[in-house]
Amino acid sequence: EKDVEGKMPLRGKKILITAGPTYEAIDPVRFIGNHSTGKMGYDIAHTAANEGAQVVLVSGPTYLSGSHSNIRVIRVESAQQMYEACREHFKDADVAIAAAAVADYRPKYPEGQKIKKNEPIMMLELEKTVDILASMGAVKKNQFLIGFALETENEIEHAKAKIRKKNLDLIVLNSLNDEGAGFGKATNKVTFIDSDLNIQPQELKSKEEVAKDIINTIKKHFNV
Ligand code: CTP
Ligand code: CA
Repeated sequence: EKDVEGKMPLRGKKILITAGPTYEAIDPVRFIGNHSTGKMGYDIAHTAANEGAQVVLVSGPTYLSGSHSNIRVIRVESAQQMYEACREHFKDADVAIAAAAVADYRPKYPEGQKIKKNEPIMMLELEKTVDILASMGAVKKNQFLIGFALETENEIEHAKAKIRKKNLDLIVLNSLNDEGAGFGKATNKVTFIDSDLNIQPQELKSKEEVAKDIINTIKKHFNV
């Protein structure tokens, strides 16, 4: 990439980003998933890549394309696969951003064959998935670690607790209460909270603008 007039401030920085939903298998043809489109994570990836960062985008199933010379896309389905890809790439990353909507639970005993509708009632036993973001926080050295939080009540309080629990440098709190925010929407109403618990509410913005704000925070951190 050309660095005319210093337009590549993130050149040489490796940024790991998770994006999209995860699919947790019930049987070979069914899964537990969610409505995440992956747009937030992909927008962050493109913004970082355009500023010269080397992006590793670990993506759950989406229709989006991470096509860019500075983006390597690793496609995964389950939380476990996303975790394994992140574990490999977090070590030498400078920044990690967890924008994925990871399933919190998965079927404990996925069936090897398609489940037949033999019973009037069926029970599905679920177990917790690994918390990918917390696992990165637990082994963090110098990496700048950013998480998202989706809350519907006591938002600030819950988001602050996640900063501490997952050892984050920044959390991007998503408000579902506000018009025009959340899954499948073009805009997000977010609040940034840093590790000193400074609260910065943002205007209602497009996801592209939220991505730029996140990248600007990273640039400030590195003084570039
Ligand atoms: N996250 C993750 N791995 C998980 C669950 C969540 O990496 N198994 C990440 C998300 O990508 C997000 C952050 O953790 O950056 C917060 O996700 P959220 O669902 O808001 O919080 P949880 O920690 O899962 O707690 P809860 O759903 O109970 O509020
Ligand atoms: Ca969750």
